[in-house]
Amino acid sequence: MTKELRFGIVGAGYMAKTHSLALRNIGSLLWPSMPRIILRRMADVSEPNASAGASRWGWEESTTDWREITRASDIDVVIVITPNDSHAEIAIDAFEHQKHVFCEKPLSSTLAGAEKMAAVAASSGRVNLVNFAYRCWPAIEFARQLIREGEIGEPIHFEGHFFQDYAADPELPFSWRFDQSVSGGGAVADLGSHIFDISCALMGGIASVAAQSRRIYSERLVVGTVQPRPVTVDDLTASLVQFRSGATGSVHASWAATGHKSDLAFSVVGTKGAIEFHWERNNELHFYSSKDDKKTAGFRRIMIGGMHPEAGAFWQAQGQGLGYGEAFVVTARRLIQAVQAGDRHFEPNFAQALHIGRVIEAAKQAAETNSWVPITGPDPFAPRTE
Ligand SMILES: NC(=O)c1ccc[n+]([C@@H]2O[C@H](COP(=O)([O-])OP(=O)(O)OC[C@H]3O[C@@H](n4cnc5c(N)ncnc54)[C@H](O)[C@@H]3O)[C@@H](O)[C@H]2O)c1
Repeated sequence: MTKELRFGIVGAGYMAKTHSLALRNIGSLLWPSMPRIILRRMADVSEPNASAGASRWGWEESTTDWREITRASDIDVVIVITPNDSHAEIAIDAFEHQKHVFCEKPLSSTLAGAEKMAAVAASSGRVNLVNFAYRCWPAIEFARQLIREGEIGEPIHFEGHFFQDYAADPELPFSWRFDQSVSGGGAVADLGSHIFDISCALMGGIASVAAQSRRIYSERLVVGTVQPRPVTVDDLTASLVQFRSGATGSVHASWAATGHKSDLAFSVVGTKGAIEFHWERNNELHFYSSKDDKKTAGFRRIMIGGMHPEAGAFWQAQGQGLGYGEAFVVTARRLIQAVQAGDRHFEPNFAQALHIGRVIEAAKQAAETNSWVPITGPDPFAPRTE
């Protein structure tokens, strides 16, 4: 067991707060099983972002050169939270300098980048995690456990969406998320990656996808100017999926879904039961079992508490509630435990994120060609045989 782990983080934007706070709190929450966590260095191409972020969130040093993190001898783990087009270069350099890597989703802005990242990660022998934080959430992990234990019989249908409405406002300025060459996709990549990932975690990998996409606003103004820039991504993608198990599904993503704030929700129908989850009530899981007496059978509301997976480190009493910040503690713990244990079976991992990258590319292609597009490659969501 390592006594201490030294972290470097690349990117000091929106996600830096969640990752930094999770690392700062994890030792106290999981005491005494955690190594001492050292927040060594924060990098950002913007010097003000790097230095202000480091002071605010407790990093010892800041830099504008991410190689001072990926190549540093005083760092063990690199967190990559830059826009999607730079994940591949930074993560690969980190693996090549023997670092463990925790990367934000989607894995890359291109399928070629994701494929290379997964290949280098696999040969590096280092821990490679992807921050599909929603999938690791206690209620969703509990849903996965119920499915694995056969409580709903054979899962035969998945219906899920991730809707937000921050881009429903036409006045929202242009950002990298609206540029296909930087983001690799709009709502389908940004929000779709999470709900596709959850669908695979619960149902297994996807065999093929059909999709329709909409771009609702074709241009946005560059911040602080009257200069328009073209939007080159989708605002909404609605997909039909066929899982490799033969199960059916629909998976929809939009960041322009008026009125929907952080509406990640799904329902799984099985031959002997069903499960429903809504992120806006994320401390509840709804479960129906056909074993129940017909007269009283119905969806029961299970309140998440310390007895459920991933939740024990927080508050024991059911219903006290965990929130967005705790989601990042859960994924940070998976990362740290994988590094400590030398475990090769950590997840969400790069191989799984590559599968999700293939699904996103297939959905984009399906929307363009109005056809079903198959997903190639192995199924990294299949149960392990060893
Ligand atoms: N897991 C989640 O729930 C979740 C939520 C939001 C965002 N994300 C992901 O996190 C990543 C970052 O998103 P964000 O919202 O924090 O973006 P952001 O635009 O707020 O911040 C990105 C930061 O990276 C810096 N940067 C850009 N290129 C860089 C480079 N080459 N080297 C160093 N710094 C660089 C920018 O200056 C900026 O400060 C994206 O991949 C996004 O998809 C994940």
